[in-house]
Amino acid sequence: MPDITALLAELRTIVGDVGLLTDPADTAAYAEDWRGLYQGHTPAVVRPASTAELSAVVTACSRAGVAMVPQGGNTSMVGGATPSGTGDEIVISLARMNRVRAIDPVDLTVTLEAGVTLKAAQNAALEAGCMLPLSISSEGTAQIGGVLATNAGGNNTLRYGNARDLVLGLEVVLPDGQIWSGLRRLRKDNTGYCLRQLFVGAEGTLGIITAAVLKLVPQPREVEVALCTVPSTEAALALYTRFSRHDPAAIQAFEYMSGQGMDFVLRHIPGASLPLPVAAHYVLIELATPRENAQLRASFEQILMPALEDGVAIDAVLAESQAQRAAIWRLREEHAEAQKREGASVKNDVSVPVSKVPELLARAQKAADALMPGVRMVPFGHMGDGNIHLNFEQPIDMDAASFLARDHDLMDMVGEIVKSLDGSFSAEHGVGKLKPYMMPEWRGGAELETMRRIKAALDPRGVMNPGKVLP
Ligand code: MLT
Ligand code: ZN
Repeated sequence: MPDITALLAELRTIVGDVGLLTDPADTAAYAEDWRGLYQGHTPAVVRPASTAELSAVVTACSRAGVAMVPQGGNTSMVGGATPSGTGDEIVISLARMNRVRAIDPVDLTVTLEAGVTLKAAQNAALEAGCMLPLSISSEGTAQIGGVLATNAGGNNTLRYGNARDLVLGLEVVLPDGQIWSGLRRLRKDNTGYCLRQLFVGAEGTLGIITAAVLKLVPQPREVEVALCTVPSTEAALALYTRFSRHDPAAIQAFEYMSGQGMDFVLRHIPGASLPLPVAAHYVLIELATPRENAQLRASFEQILMPALEDGVAIDAVLAESQAQRAAIWRLREEHAEAQKREGASVKNDVSVPVSKVPELLARAQKAADALMPGVRMVPFGHMGDGNIHLNFEQPIDMDAASFLARDHDLMDMVGEIVKSLDGSFSAEHGVGKLKPYMMPEWRGGAELETMRRIKAALDPRGVMNPGKVLP
């Protein structure tokens, strides 16, 4: 049994009083996940102020054989940053490592510490006349370290890729405390195995990301946002195809929302209001370009007018101001929060080829009705890249506990359909502690075996975020 008291005394000498929380009143918020699915326990939350401090902390924990759970903004959808209930895993918060170390508008790169929130990183890029092209609903709270550890995707993936595609370099504290300084900012670098991509998406199971170099893009000169109602998911796909054939380079987001999800947002989010009549299906389209005189409003009209005439769209509004753009985006971004306020939910963060989204939704609705009459399907998300949050809300007449007890039934039902459409059971949220049970079926054989070998090679003592990703 590790001597936790001795370890905590050692950690206090490394990070000082300000960097060590042990009072349960202070640590409780770090021990529970954002969704309220997992209530863990931890003897301490360590908040190092530098990579050197973190390295010393990890060295001490590893030597003592004490497990560590790295945590950023604690916005995981799959319990990826929550300690177990056993009370012997130490949470390591990166929040104090929150400096923008460098930004270069010529190289179009930014060097960020792990605790910088995504929103702060976006703002730093804007101040330098650039844009960090990664946007997720939780960006005000989510931190760069967690965003990279989970390979977050979000709203702009169809144009710029997900977090993985933006990473040029990383700094990582390895499970034994060594620091890997890989903060390179090269566009070309073929020097052996690509280590940085090993840590992106590993969900903190192979080491702790402490800083990163990310790619930026030029700031757009024109941004236009439209909200449309469409008669069906097939029509949503048809509209997407019309936009992507017209000017694929200008599409920055193409998001789908259902009538059910919009209803939750309108009822639970103060100030949310719909600028067009209610409908069963909505799409939010954002066009943006750094080009001058690109006339994006004209592009919108060129596509939306005929779509309205031939019934591919029912109604459409174009935002007239930055405030209206933000109000329309809010209707989309508050979906997760609104769903939480409505009650318990089972989330399926799935991806399929874009062309299969309507079939996915139709088959899931039918199967859900048969499996659990009254369950409320709340599909929404990044239709333009094929990633749908195929979520379910508890039936009105079922209590939360009985509903959540059947989460695997709903997840497996969706999984079967997604598999038959060549999709993935986790598009952008990761595996965390919610879904490792799905790994053998989905990533079994040589793939899972290789993942296990990588884990064993880097973290032979199994101290880095145990119980996550791998079953
Ligand atoms: C989002 O795009 O808003 C999140 O990834 C959502 C979710 O599944 O609730
Ligand atoms: Zn999402």
